[in-house]
Amino acid sequence: MPSQRPVVAPAEGKLGVLTVGLGAVASTLIAGVELTKRGLGKPIGSLAQMDTIRLGKRTDGRNPLIKDFVPLARLEDIEWGAWDPFPDDAYVAAQRAGVLEGPKHIEGIADTLREIRPMKAAFDRQYVKKIDAENTLGTINKRQMLQAIREDINRFRDEKKVDRLVMIWCASTEIFIEPGPAHMNLEAFEKAIDANDPSIAPSMLYAYAAILEGVPFANGAPNLAVDTPVLRQLATEKKVAISGKDFKTGQTLMKTVLAPMLRARMLGLSGWYSTNILGNRDGEVLDDPDNFKTKEESKLGVLEDILQPDKFPDLYGNVFHKVRINYYPPRGDNKEGWDNIDIFGWLGYPMQIKVDFLCRDSILAAPLALDLVLFMDLAQRAGLGGIQEWLSFYYKSPQVAPGLTPEHDLFVQLAKLKNTLRWMMGEEQITHLGREYYDEA
Ligand SMILES: NC(=O)c1ccc[n+]([C@@H]2O[C@H](COP(=O)([O-])OP(=O)(O)OC[C@H]3O[C@@H](n4cnc5c(N)ncnc54)[C@H](O)[C@@H]3O)[C@@H](O)[C@H]2O)c1
Repeated sequence: MPSQRPVVAPAEGKLGVLTVGLGAVASTLIAGVELTKRGLGKPIGSLAQMDTIRLGKRTDGRNPLIKDFVPLARLEDIEWGAWDPFPDDAYVAAQRAGVLEGPKHIEGIADTLREIRPMKAAFDRQYVKKIDAENTLGTINKRQMLQAIREDINRFRDEKKVDRLVMIWCASTEIFIEPGPAHMNLEAFEKAIDANDPSIAPSMLYAYAAILEGVPFANGAPNLAVDTPVLRQLATEKKVAISGKDFKTGQTLMKTVLAPMLRARMLGLSGWYSTNILGNRDGEVLDDPDNFKTKEESKLGVLEDILQPDKFPDLYGNVFHKVRINYYPPRGDNKEGWDNIDIFGWLGYPMQIKVDFLCRDSILAAPLALDLVLFMDLAQRAGLGGIQEWLSFYYKSPQVAPGLTPEHDLFVQLAKLKNTLRWMMGEEQITHLGREYYDEA
């Protein structure tokens, strides 16, 4: 039985959106929302803005837009804030990122974008070696960093007079850190902060500050941030919504559509080779092996979870899986991702699938970031603290309760998301059984 349906508070007043990082994704998100508000662009890729949801029986004809069904914050009520070690305002950040066409999508909203200036970042080069910039809190200790982030949150809340806040990590991928003793409980975590322990990355300080201030935290990158036992526990106790990790945009989006298809048809897999060329700042950061390792873990986990080789050793017991990201500046944000997939069918006969996805990284990521912001705010108003597994749809490495295997299949994730919205609003779950259409005949 699902737990008792929540009461969702209305989306009254202003919603402050704090992006950690004001790079390609964040500036594309902000510009896109500002253009949409003015009727100068369409929020393509955003379920929250464009998709409908079926309610009741197929014959009922009830298919409202999601945004008309659940009380989401209006785009007009969003106030933007950001942190970044580069001092560029959102106008300059959008120009630099090279994602959007200036005359068409930046100049018309230049005044608004210029007003969004990044606060000084809690930044330490030890975690992102390829970035060297001055708009930081400097070399202060971790306790002071935590304090400064909390002060920024509160100052932003007061100055912009926002009623609610959401924080979303759109900053660089930090170096690989495994959950260790410092992340197990609050006492150890606090001690590690005081000791300036290297296992406490800036992303964890932002996440901790957010939870302490009652601000939902979503993590668009693969670094741990809020995905540690201590912060999961704290978020649950304090009833603050958290979710992560790593926006599911290009190649992994494809993987979580194709791999469930192979699994559904009981087709075998012997190898999956994925490679990318990418030339934006994210690509440059990921060119460092320590930062790439964080991304690699996030990308590699998907296949094993979907294919369950322990259950199907004949089909998936011997899969060679490789993921590569190559920094290649000429392409900028316009990534190209190739997949070579070696599969086998009836009696073991081999076949191949080739995918060549010429995508645009931030164009795919921006709508996910928008939906996450709106749905995290909704979850918070519904009193749903802790991990928001129903938002797995948006992530490469969905955060789930300890002991659970994450659900990666995009369409199962979509069904989960929509059923959660139905549950929140007291509508029936859709099971796809559909006997009633035949029993009555
Ligand atoms: N675009 C996609 O399709 C996609 C998909 C999945 C994940 N991501 C992740 O999203 C993140 C953002 O991607 P992007 O393309 O915008 O990268 P970007 O390099 O353009 O922007 C990231 C920004 O974060 C800033 N930053 C780094 N450390 C910071 C800190 N401690 N505090 C505040 N700011 C900090 C950097 O200065 C930079 O401006 C990356 O981690 C990327 O791996 C992107």
